Amino acid sequence: MEELTIRPVPRLKGDLVLPGDKSISHRAVMIGAIAKGKTIAKDILDCDDCNYTIRAFADMGIVIKKESRYTTIEGKGLRGLARPKASLNVGNSGTSMRLLAGILAGQDFSATLEGDESLSARPMKRISEPLALMGVSVNTRDGHPPLEIRGGNVKAVDYVLPIPSAQIKSALLFAGLYAAGVTTVRESSKSRDHTERMLEYFGADIKVEGLNVSVKGGRELAGRELEVPGDISSASFFMAGAILLDGSKVRIKNVSINPTRAGVLDILTKMGAKIKIVNKTGLFEPAGDIEVESGPLRGVSIGEGEIPAAIDELPIIFVLASLAKGRTVIKGAGELRVKETDRIRSMKENLEAMGARIRVSADEMIIEGVDALKGAGIKTYGDHRTCMAMTVAALTAKGASKIDDPQCVNKSFPQFFSVLEGLK
Ligand code: S3P
Repeated sequence: MEELTIRPVPRLKGDLVLPGDKSISHRAVMIGAIAKGKTIAKDILDCDDCNYTIRAFADMGIVIKKESRYTTIEGKGLRGLARPKASLNVGNSGTSMRLLAGILAGQDFSATLEGDESLSARPMKRISEPLALMGVSVNTRDGHPPLEIRGGNVKAVDYVLPIPSAQIKSALLFAGLYAAGVTTVRESSKSRDHTERMLEYFGADIKVEGLNVSVKGGRELAGRELEVPGDISSASFFMAGAILLDGSKVRIKNVSINPTRAGVLDILTKMGAKIKIVNKTGLFEPAGDIEVESGPLRGVSIGEGEIPAAIDELPIIFVLASLAKGRTVIKGAGELRVKETDRIRSMKENLEAMGARIRVSADEMIIEGVDALKGAGIKTYGDHRTCMAMTVAALTAKGASKIDDPQCVNKSFPQFFSVLEGLK
């Protein structure tokens, strides 16, 4: 892998349109494939992870075509998937693996889901155990991928999620589409609700009551047209750069601002950032333009209940907290240890190399703001969000930094470095 040198820049300025939201893109392909008829989705994200999802459905006989900004998915109905000839490889994509497990649960064939080395180390009992309660046999390798799923007779379940997780919730809702009765999933804090919103839009018999979601199985979905808004996780890196670099002003157009997903906006506002949302739109997923400019930040307390809506933005929040005035305390972020890499470890190590002050005890993190960071060698551990968050830290630093594996951004945001160039 080729190293990349990041030099500090004075400011970021400009207007941006970002690629489509990754979570919504995965779901558009999946739900389009199991709906009846054509789904036309505008601005599906073209990245490694979403392309694994597309390939998996192509391997199960679904025709998916892309022409300029439009992806057409010829859905074959709930039970229209064909048995794949070989294992379905989903690379590094946890969302593909966990959500697909729920769909495969309803098929009357067996299939195996496998992934790369990093995904093969991620926990899958959280999927296999509730699916077992639904009568679906999922063999794992000691709780890890590969997953061998013997689909067929799915029983409805009433399940309390042990951790708020959109991936588990979505897998169970997908399996619930195939069950005879009503499947209910209960959460303690709301995780992103893209699956519920999209299933409803495609005609599922779904009900949301506070933290509980129920789906009644047996009803076919109908193909639809939809637009995927820009990805707020990708947007957060440019927002952070603009906040930290004096004299910056950035407008990011048409970004997903779904409240179960956009917790970073609330946390940054609490830290004192100057953020405005204008031009609100959206059909079943709210979107808007985000305007952000530079300004000082203060340290804050971030509680467990705030974590699910900002889970993927915590790495960049660590960077911002490192440069805020005072102390930031973050509680209940333990899930970060089982992402593409252990993000508490990777971010702490990299930020400390740049002069940040971070303490970790159990799953509490305490970050004492410093006046400035200094350039350093950055290790991504193959993790796209560690890479992008540390790139922003490097832009603000004194002296140049070197990133060991910049290509890992292809997982979610292949154009990250070129978009950044355009703002400098
Ligand atoms: C995702 C859910 C989150 C998130 C991941 C994408 C999704 O994972 O971290 O990047 O699209 O459902 P968990 O459900 O494991 O929290």
